[in-house]
Amino acid sequence: MQVGIDQIGMYTPNKFVDMVDLAHARNEDPNKYLIGIGQRQMSVADETQDAVSMGINATLRYFDQIDKDKIGLLIFGTESGVDQSKSASLFVKSALGLKADVRTFEVKEACFGLTASLMTARDFVRVHPDQTAIVIGSDIARYGIGTPGEVTQGAGSVSLLVSSNPRILSLNNGHSAYSEDINDFWRPNNSKVAMVDGKYSTQVYLDFFEKTFTAYKEQKNWHTQDFAAIIYHLPFTKQGLKANRLAIKDQDSAVQDCLQKSFEASKWLSMRIGNIYTASLYLSLLSLLENDKMEPNSLIGLFSYGSGAMAEFFSGNLVDGYQKQLNPRVDQALLDRRHQLTVAEYEKIFTQALQDPANNVELESDEEVGVWYFAGLKDNIRQYRRVK
Ligand code: CAA
Repeated sequence: MQVGIDQIGMYTPNKFVDMVDLAHARNEDPNKYLIGIGQRQMSVADETQDAVSMGINATLRYFDQIDKDKIGLLIFGTESGVDQSKSASLFVKSALGLKADVRTFEVKEACFGLTASLMTARDFVRVHPDQTAIVIGSDIARYGIGTPGEVTQGAGSVSLLVSSNPRILSLNNGHSAYSEDINDFWRPNNSKVAMVDGKYSTQVYLDFFEKTFTAYKEQKNWHTQDFAAIIYHLPFTKQGLKANRLAIKDQDSAVQDCLQKSFEASKWLSMRIGNIYTASLYLSLLSLLENDKMEPNSLIGLFSYGSGAMAEFFSGNLVDGYQKQLNPRVDQALLDRRHQLTVAEYEKIFTQALQDPANNVELESDEEVGVWYFAGLKDNIRQYRRVK
């Protein structure tokens, strides 16, 4: 039985900062951000956007095309959680009107959260092939104004429907996992911004990539040339480029060209949206499928990395006709509808985001905030509203 990804929905908020503007404001050469880091823009979440609202909006991208009654599992992976106790997934379940017997919870292991959810969903569907699972990754990456990590911020969500007989990517059995208890990136409970040992984190990422990629090929008795594409968690696109260089070193030029071309195709959405932590790898997948012409049955390798740190390499085969499940024009329009902020406007929004949420968030009349938005607190309970 084939189990895998049947639908992909993406969402990002309606504002962005251009990296050239940010570089000028921080007295950096723009090419450091554009080439050295590999980012062009970053989406910015204002007070109407949080992990929950973005996750609902990502799921709504495909929700009217699926059988609601078949959903047996809903998992929400995030490191931008809105409550220490109640799962973000319950707000989503309520907004989507899912039935009461759905198993639903939130998971956390930094950027690994959506992969953990996907693997759990894969195993769930194997046991319950007549049911489906929704898995959501949704995050706002915040490091702080003027920090080295600032250029690697972003905001957005990806939602996946996992089913038997999937129409996009059939997931293969097996995986190679590797973890260590380290402090490369973390966010303590008393902080709204991430702490990071930046240079160390970039090295650990590459080290974990080599370990898991090598182990996976050994486990499957596969070789680098068997992959039509390898895609990566992209905290910023240069990080994936470095991992891809490791993957293709010692390969002949045909393999190098193929995997370099597919990497280039996989990075466009991240270059414009920024780091969306849990969902970043799946933004790479969407970008690859929309920007490269891949043959049916092509083998795609996926490298997932979550600081702290946990990594996994796994793979899937593209399903014939996968293009029919995509909507590149709507994805493009979602990026193009964003309003460009000045750096001063972004800094104001950022500073406000570090405060506690307001009691009632009033919408500007012409503001496009997604189908659902965060409407502030009432009696310390988060309110989510549907735009009328
Ligand atoms: N033109 C072209 N390139 C230039 C340049 C110019 N004018 N000026 C500098 N560069 C290049 C540098 O040579 C360097 O390239 P290499 O990495 O190939 O050597 C690159 O630009 C970056 O320069 P620096 O290393 O000097 O940058 P920095 O010290 O300001 O910080 C960073 C970079 C450490 C990545 C920082 O942005 C950061 O801390 N980011 C957050 C942490 C992160 O994303 N880590 C990734 C691994 S952890 C993970 O994956 C989980 C997660 O999502 C966070």
